[in-house]
Amino acid sequence: MNITVIGCGYLGATHAAAMAELGYDVLGVEIDAQKRESLASGRVPFYEPGLEELLAKHVASGRLRFTDSFQEAGAFGELHFVCVGTPQRHDGLGADVRFVDAAVDALAPYLTDGDLVVGKSTVPVGTAARLAAKLPEGAELAWNPEFLREGFAVQDTLEPDRLVFGVASELAEKVLRDFYTPVIATGTPVVVTDYATAELVKVSANAFLATKISFINAVAEVCEAAGGDVVDLADAIGHDDRIGRKFLNAGVGFGGGCLPKDIRAFLSRAGELGVEDTMSFLRQVDDINLRQRTRVVQIATTMLGGSVARSRIAVWGAAFKPHSDDVRDSPALSIAGQLHLRGALVSVYDPKANDTARAMFPTLDYAESAFEAARDADLLLHLTEWPEFREVDADELGETVRRKQVIDGRNKLDLEAWRDAGWIARGLGRR
Ligand code: UDX
Repeated sequence: MNITVIGCGYLGATHAAAMAELGYDVLGVEIDAQKRESLASGRVPFYEPGLEELLAKHVASGRLRFTDSFQEAGAFGELHFVCVGTPQRHDGLGADVRFVDAAVDALAPYLTDGDLVVGKSTVPVGTAARLAAKLPEGAELAWNPEFLREGFAVQDTLEPDRLVFGVASELAEKVLRDFYTPVIATGTPVVVTDYATAELVKVSANAFLATKISFINAVAEVCEAAGGDVVDLADAIGHDDRIGRKFLNAGVGFGGGCLPKDIRAFLSRAGELGVEDTMSFLRQVDDINLRQRTRVVQIATTMLGGSVARSRIAVWGAAFKPHSDDVRDSPALSIAGQLHLRGALVSVYDPKANDTARAMFPTLDYAESAFEAARDADLLLHLTEWPEFREVDADELGETVRRKQVIDGRNKLDLEAWRDAGWIARGLGRR
């Protein structure tokens, strides 16, 4: 079976390479010339562990090619995966589905009998039904949301927790089951449902994860007020299977290209459907999340004696999470930016995201190492939990800084060890 993958960003590039790995011939459709040329030469234009090896392997084997021609895509594939982005709209909270519509409109004239268009992008509920009506007689649509995490994209694509098929016919289900046979054979559960449920599964999963994070961040503030410790608390409640320990790490909160915009889009779509009130807690989830960034700025200001102006602040981490160079809506970069705008001299270091951060926030200073960022600092902020930051020797680092003060915005440093080395060390919601 030949397949096409339309839109080759994080999702599409990973899906294309992973499906080539499963043995399919894949044609990626990417209209951005720079991205397309990079992928066609076996280079991934962003950092994602393991992806470049897979991509290069299948570009070399000839199983994976790239084009900008929808005509070529129509002629080549029987299954067409739509993987384009759905960012937040500039004029509101909803998702901008322009690229999804454009992809389907461009492909539709070239579809032939028996073709299946499979949506993977995260879309507002109702989009699939609307798109299905655009397809010519004989072609069909299915919705098959993705759940990949950046940093684990290849693994999550090849060994997903579950597959969700939103379909309008048994034939579409059969085609998808056949296609994913190698994945299903390893025991991956399959949920077969309608379009609307498949679309809602994706946003509900992300809304639930976001809620879990904001819940623990809210409790962290109570811990702080009451003299408790949120890490011990999360460990304790996480032992309950019904709760689980994952996504209970309190800190500067969630960012990235999915969680923030997905909860806003969910809220916005619920409003359009007349059920906004029932989802209004997501507004608080968003507010609690953004509040963590302000909280760190306030704590930093207090630790620096009431103003950050002219102080040197080292920021460890710029990516929205470790193992990624993605700085979209990154709490780390947002905090670094706020401090800079208040007159602090901010030096940022991220093992992978210095370049992407510089492109988004060119006025910050970027260092080449954790030690270089900390030189002469009055305060150190640990904001993205890359493993290398946990390896740093607090004694040795103490020789480099001007004042031994640290805020652990991810609650991953051994605060006791830092205190033993003479640092004033603070976590969020920690003793
Ligand atoms: C997320 C979903 O996990 C994935 O299933 C979906 O397909 C896309 O969105 P991703 O954006 O890659 O994936 O990041 P994720 O690992 O979910 O982390 C999101 C954010 O939450 C990060 O900023 C992370 O630092 C933060 N986070 C995560 C916390 O603050 N605390 C936690 O306990 C866990």
